[in-house]
Amino acid sequence: MTYKTDKSKELFQKAQRCLVGGLSSSFHKAAWNEYPIYMDHGKGSKVYDVDGNSYIDYLNAFGPNLLGYVHPDLTAAVAKQLQKATLMAAPNADLVKLADKLVDIIPCADKVSAFMSSGSEANMHAIRVARAYTGKKKIVKIEGCYHGSMDEEKVSCDAERLEALGSRENPNKIKHIKGQKDPDDVIIAMFNDLDNIEHIFKTQGDDIACMILETIMANADPIYPKPGFLEGLRTLCDQYQVVLIFDEVITGFRLGLQGAQGYFGVTPDLATFGKAIGGGYPISCVAGREEVVSAATVASGTFAANALCVAAALATIEICQRPGFYENLERMSQKMVDGIQVICAKYGVKVNTKAIGGMWTMILGTDEDLVDYRDHYSKVDSKLYTKLVQGCMERGIRLNPWRGRNYMCAQSTDEDIAYTLQVLDELMAQAVGEK
Ligand SMILES: Cc1ncc(COP(=O)(O)O)c(C=O)c1O
Repeated sequence: MTYKTDKSKELFQKAQRCLVGGLSSSFHKAAWNEYPIYMDHGKGSKVYDVDGNSYIDYLNAFGPNLLGYVHPDLTAAVAKQLQKATLMAAPNADLVKLADKLVDIIPCADKVSAFMSSGSEANMHAIRVARAYTGKKKIVKIEGCYHGSMDEEKVSCDAERLEALGSRENPNKIKHIKGQKDPDDVIIAMFNDLDNIEHIFKTQGDDIACMILETIMANADPIYPKPGFLEGLRTLCDQYQVVLIFDEVITGFRLGLQGAQGYFGVTPDLATFGKAIGGGYPISCVAGREEVVSAATVASGTFAANALCVAAALATIEICQRPGFYENLERMSQKMVDGIQVICAKYGVKVNTKAIGGMWTMILGTDEDLVDYRDHYSKVDSKLYTKLVQGCMERGIRLNPWRGRNYMCAQSTDEDIAYTLQVLDELMAQAVGEK
């Protein structure tokens, strides 16, 4: 059967008449696509579009769908709460249960704060907390990391060309949004480069409130911390009284319940969570060391700690705590990665592929770990990856179109993986043959 997406095309044409850019999130359409694929529903590990095509989904809503689509126990918990109320302009008893559980689970959490809806809001609050705690105002952010859509977050997240980044010593602060305020208080640093960060702290430490980073730069290809990097950051932040913030919006519950701080054994002062902690329902929070996290005013928001999302987060934690939950995710991620390695070796394609909890990655063009975002330009074969993404889509598999970071969900199956590897093998043969 030929792959057809006519209804999506038609919907996009209509959307452009009433919706700015035809989209509500710039991430809903990859730049090279003429129109987004409109999805109708999801079930298990698959998502179904309006034209009736199904896709094994490894994008999983950019991370939140840790449990897969319509997980029966999560759905039942949410449905139960739905019968009671969503918003009551008051905390409920479950909120206390949730906060208590998070304090139990997350290493840095003496307390949690600011149950909002998005990762962007959590990071905004964390930055505010750091400023309140230190009385200082500057933020150090790593080139290539993504922390959300606020003016001070969406800075130097990526660039079309290496030259646009400026020099390592004096990197440009790239704005990504029309109308974005100048990020005067943001300082750009290099991932995996403690000398660079120490120099920044030495020269501007008196003004720096916090250092925020993704511990695994998952929004780049991804890029992993070198052994000692996170530990070194911890030491430097202590030395210069800079609040260390781990953005765990992706890694939270994805690498394990304790997130990256549990995985790497380095405890930040503050950590932000979103995405997977609600299992697909919008909830985020900030966790941290008592004296730091308590420094700012309590957050406010109409939808903050709404009962539906609190119920979803509690159910998600309960499901994640079941015996074998993470072992199963990791087993499936590893199976995919092993298969990719065999395929790439067969066609002589260099690959860096890793399984970490419910995340599996595929960087083509290199078998080395990337050190920082700048490595992307010289080492990564993005064209080949994009070719695979497009070919997979036509064969009923949805990969992350932007970068080689993909997700298993609790409902992924061995059959999904076997089919995906078969398709990747065929597509790789084709791509290599065309070179
Ligand atoms: C690491 C990281 N932090 C923060 C965010 C922002 O989260 P949200 O899109 O929920 O605002 C994202 C979103 O992709 C992210 O990947």
